Amino acid sequence: MGDSPDLPPLSAALYQAGCRSYAGFHTPGHGRGHAIYPPLRAWWGEGVFRADLPELPGLDNLLAPAGRIAEAQAQAAQVFGADQTWFLVNGATAGLLAAVLAVCRPGDRLLLPRNVHQAVLHALILADVWPVFLAPCRAAGLWGGPDPTAVTDHLAADPTIRAVLLVSPTYEGVCAEVDTLAAIAHAAGRPVIVDEAHGAHLGFHPALPLPALSQGADLVVQASHKTLPALTQAAMLHCRGVRIDPQRVSQALRLIQTSSPSYLLLASLETATAQMATAGRHLLEQTLAAAAWVRAQVEKLPGLSVVQPPCGRPGFAAQDPTRLTVRVADLGLTGFAADEILHGELGVTAELPGYEDLTFLLSVGHTTADVAQLVAALQTLSRRHWGAVPLPVAPLWPGLSERVCSPRQAFFAPCESIPLAAAAGRVSAATVCPYPPGIPLLIPGERISPEALTYLESSVRAGGAVVGLSVQDPPEVRVLYG
Ligand SMILES: Cc1ncc(COP(=O)(O)O)c(C=O)c1O
Repeated sequence: MGDSPDLPPLSAALYQAGCRSYAGFHTPGHGRGHAIYPPLRAWWGEGVFRADLPELPGLDNLLAPAGRIAEAQAQAAQVFGADQTWFLVNGATAGLLAAVLAVCRPGDRLLLPRNVHQAVLHALILADVWPVFLAPCRAAGLWGGPDPTAVTDHLAADPTIRAVLLVSPTYEGVCAEVDTLAAIAHAAGRPVIVDEAHGAHLGFHPALPLPALSQGADLVVQASHKTLPALTQAAMLHCRGVRIDPQRVSQALRLIQTSSPSYLLLASLETATAQMATAGRHLLEQTLAAAAWVRAQVEKLPGLSVVQPPCGRPGFAAQDPTRLTVRVADLGLTGFAADEILHGELGVTAELPGYEDLTFLLSVGHTTADVAQLVAALQTLSRRHWGAVPLPVAPLWPGLSERVCSPRQAFFAPCESIPLAAAAGRVSAATVCPYPPGIPLLIPGERISPEALTYLESSVRAGGAVVGLSVQDPPEVRVLYG
């Protein structure tokens, strides 16, 4: 594996273990790469297999860390401003499941916005928690956080609400008023969990919105792999203050994380932390400059515009400038159609297509050539399509559905598949989520309204995808019997 590189402690121990000459009678079965499919070894290189090791002496144990992993997690806690940090090898999903399991008891209620990731809905099923949904604020074509007044009212009215969960930033980089919401929740004696999957980079540059931990959040889940130089699936869970029992968090993580974590993922978390601590500000300076340049160029292009949240209004505290949502509807294109052209013909791939727009993620991993290619592709799109008839307005989200039973009751209840068109009035056994906007329309235990069906039909007609329906034509949906 070459000369000894300059690595932080856990990664250095892994490197040493990978270099050691010994006969290893342990997992994984590829035997440090000897038995791996040769073309794969030729492609990935030998080093990756030599570092793909189990919990050997000196490499610590993720589920009961006391050595190098404990050290790396403590270092991450310091860098991210937490009292305690846990490394996750199953994405932010693992952090969300563990956070809800650690904070709530069966039968509790959790106050949360509807635009939560499906992992949170799965956590409700696992922990037997009832959701109390808040409709997120919507303005300028973007979803924001919940209205603080609604949070205050719910907490005052319902003593069975155990905690508040927030999503900030959203996919489009819209940040909720985490400081205000945390103050409201704490005054009412409830802890706050923040799904900051899209915001692991926020603490590393003063021009970015403040990270949730520094705004009073108690438990924060970050998908490090989304915006930091870490491998896919690598994520972190951070805890701060006295409202969360860290032992419950560790216990919950033992329940849902693998006992064979990939050291490649753990090393990438450790090195991303070290990199951001030493060079994060400088790297983000370049990302921010690139994002500002792209914004300025887009504003010059006929038919294209950057979608800006109305910061300062309830639900809209700030915008992460490294997310760029570009409206394409005035070119007569849906975000899906524009995505196909950009990806298929113009060599640019976006993070998320919407009905009227496309969201691009800029990170410390982008080069000057990447951003130049993005602007050139958008120029071509504008030139080719300017003058087309603008799109009709997007279908209107019909709002929250009536809850009949808990997500867990619905998950375990006998159910059947029926044609979607015949489902009005029945209780959904499935999470049905149209993209866009990626906000679940139905989750297990909710009654299917005629308005919800109309919305699903118009979403599909507009070119969106619906997750949670069967693929056959006409589509079917899982509902409870009777
Ligand atoms: C808001 C939000 N939370 C959580 C997740 C889950 O993250 P992961 O894929 O790392 O499990 C996602 C994934 O897209 C997300 O967008």
